Amino acid sequence: MPNTKIKIAIGSDHAGFEYKEALKAYLTEFDLQDFGTHSIDSVDYPDFAHPVALAVENKEFDYGILICGTANGVAMTANKHQHIRAAICWENDIALLVRKHNDANILCIPARFVSEYVAKEIATTFLTTDFEGGRHQNRIDKMSC
Ligand code: RB5
Repeated sequence: MPNTKIKIAIGSDHAGFEYKEALKAYLTEFDLQDFGTHSIDSVDYPDFAHPVALAVENKEFDYGILICGTANGVAMTANKHQHIRAAICWENDIALLVRKHNDANILCIPARFVSEYVAKEIATTFLTTDFEGGRHQNRIDKMSC
């Protein structure tokens, strides 16, 4: 039987390592591949954000999840990729709207500013909400420069 699970590339820096591990254990209905980091030792977030962004951009994965302290470093890095729409989410309704309206393809979680409970809730919402298309597609088509 083919593997029909949604494929997720997940990565973090040291600040996001513990939430990454928690999400891997929690999101069992998805096919997650861990792009590191693999400990709480200090690392540079672009070394993990670029590989995740590239894998999503190349359509090897359906979505990405990136986690760092504020989510800004990983989001800024991922959004350098032409076909990436990385969205920082700190509450559930934002995760809902970045999927419905922005067709975000990478979720960025600020580990130092949300609880683990909220991080799990955000991830579930992001991964199970469809893009609405229509007028939102027109706006997305105008993003590139
Ligand atoms: C690491 O200390 C921290 O700077 C990083 O996780 C992130 O918040 C950067 O945007």
